[in-house]
Amino acid sequence: MSLLSVRSLTVDYETSGGTIHAVNDVSFEIEPGETIGLVGESGCGKSTLGKAVMRLTPSTEGRIFLDGKDITQIDQREMRPIRSKMQMIFQDPMNSLNPRRTVGALIGQPLQVAGRPAAEVKARVAELMSQVGLPPDAAPRYPHEFSGGQRQRIGIARALALNPKLVVCDEPVSALDVSIRAQVINLLQDLSDELGVSYLFISHDLTMVQHIADRLLVMYLGSVVETGPAETIWKKPAHPYTKALLAAAPVADPQEMRKRKKFMLQGDLPSPANLPKGCAFSTRCPFAEDRCRAEKPILRRVSGEHRISCHFDLAERMEAGDIPVASLPETATAHHEGAST
Ligand SMILES: Nc1ncnc2c1ncn2[C@@H]1O[C@H](COP(=O)(O)OP(=O)(O)OP(=O)(O)O)[C@@H](O)[C@H]1O
Ligand SMILES: [Mg+2]
Repeated sequence: MSLLSVRSLTVDYETSGGTIHAVNDVSFEIEPGETIGLVGESGCGKSTLGKAVMRLTPSTEGRIFLDGKDITQIDQREMRPIRSKMQMIFQDPMNSLNPRRTVGALIGQPLQVAGRPAAEVKARVAELMSQVGLPPDAAPRYPHEFSGGQRQRIGIARALALNPKLVVCDEPVSALDVSIRAQVINLLQDLSDELGVSYLFISHDLTMVQHIADRLLVMYLGSVVETGPAETIWKKPAHPYTKALLAAAPVADPQEMRKRKKFMLQGDLPSPANLPKGCAFSTRCPFAEDRCRAEKPILRRVSGEHRISCHFDLAERMEAGDIPVASLPETATAHHEGAST
C-alpha cells in the first residue's frame, strides 16, 4: 500500500478577481521511504498542492489517502493523530520558528503537545539535535543566535520529533546560502535513509532535487506535465516544459549554454484564473500546433513509469536540438547566426 495516494486533486481559490485554478486534477503516489521531487516555476501550484496534502488548505475535488485512510474530509479532531505522521518544513525557518522560545523548547514542543513526560522530551530533544547536527549546547539558546542553515536544522528536528512517515519540504533550501544548500539536502537525504521517512520535496529549481528525488512530478499551471523516475527525466526529458526547466539551469560551458538557450521559456505564465484552451503550455511551447490549442492532452505513458501530457513524441527531436526556427528566441538566433559565420 502506498504511504500517500492523491487522486484527481483539484484546488481552486475563490478571489475577488475570480476563481484561481491552482491545482488541476493531480494524481500521484508516494511509497514508504520514497522522495518525490515536485518542480515547476513560481505560481504553478506547488505550495498549494503541498498544503492540500497536509490538509492546511481545503481541496475542491479529489481524494487524499494516508496509509490507506481517506483524510480528505476528516475534521480537526480526527486529524490530530494524523498530524504526527505528516509534517511540513518551510522555506524560511525564521518565520516558522517562534523567536521567543529556546531551541530546546521549539524542538520539544510537538512532543510536549503529544503529552510526553518531561524527561523523555529532554532526552529526545538531545537525540534530535545530534541527528540534525546542531551543537549539544544549542538547547537553551534562541533561533536568532543561529545561522540560516542551522535554523533550518532546527526546523527539520522539530518536524521529525514525532517520527513522521511523510515530510512535505516546501523549498527547504531556497532561502539558504548556495554554499550550505547541499549540506542541508544531504542531511535530509541521510535522515530519509536512516529513518525511512518519505519526502514530498518542493522546488522551483530542478537541479535542487536532482540528487534527492527518486521520482519527479513536473507541474505547469496546476497540472502535472511530466512524471517518472528522476534519472530518466533528468537524462531525457520528454515534455518541452521540462526541457525548458532543465535548459534554465546554469552551466559553465558557453557552447552548452548556447545549445540550451533555444529551449528556454519565452513569454509570461498565463493567469491561473484564465487557463489557456487545450494544452495549458501551448501558449509558450515552441512545438505547439493547432491540435495543442484545441485539445487538452492527457497524461500518457512514454515508457515504464515515465509519463507526459503532450500530444507528441518530442524527446528525440529535443535531444537533437531540433526546434522550430520561428520560435527561437532572438538572442539564441543571434548566437546561432554568429556561430555559422
Ligand atoms: N490563498 C490564496 N488565495 C488566492 N490565490 C492563491 C492563494 N495562494 C496561492 N494562490 C495562487 O495560486 C497559484 C499557485 O500558488 P502557489 O503558492 O501554490 O504556487 P507555487 O508553485 O508554490 O509558487 P512559488 O514557487 O512562488 O512558491 C498562484 O497563482 C497564486 O497566486
Ligand atoms: Mg510555493
